[in-house]
Amino acid sequence: MPSCKKIIRNILGYLILALNTVAANHLVPTSEVSLGKKIYHDRCEVCHGSQGDGKTFAANVLFPPPKNFRAESTKKELPRERMIRSVTRGRSGTAMMPWESILSKQEIHSVVNYIRKNFMGLYK
Ligand code: HEC
Repeated sequence: MPSCKKIIRNILGYLILALNTVAANHLVPTSEVSLGKKIYHDRCEVCHGSQGDGKTFAANVLFPPPKNFRAESTKKELPRERMIRSVTRGRSGTAMMPWESILSKQEIHSVVNYIRKNFMGLYK
């Protein structure tokens, strides 16, 4: 039954999301430079992977899968503005939730900068 599979996948996805959000509330204030890095590894890594390639346990149960930030196609597909919008408002119908009630604008900018620099190889 394909619909049953889908339900299980969604439940697992939300469980991972819920656990991640609980864990994320222990974020301690840190210096501006490492802010984006800390946020990424605390809150995004569970789905997007420690190397940003989307190869995670969570990816097995998520459809669409988390974005692979290292793919060549991602650079063209994801300009900075789109990334900021997607992190702020989420992507409806996917496990990519809106972060605007959890992260400040500055934190969202920091984590997007971290992803662009470290995984996408972009410096602006
Ligand atoms: C519960 C899993 C999960 C977590 C946690 C998560 N993401 Fe995602 N993310 C996804 C999925 C799934 C997609 C693919 C959405 C799509 O294809 O539209 C995605 C897509 C994205 C995209 C691309 C959006 C676009 O416009 O195509 C960005 C940027 C992104 N995530 C950043 C982040 C950041 C930053 C964090 C941490 C603050 C984060 N994600 C946490 C699952 C997650």
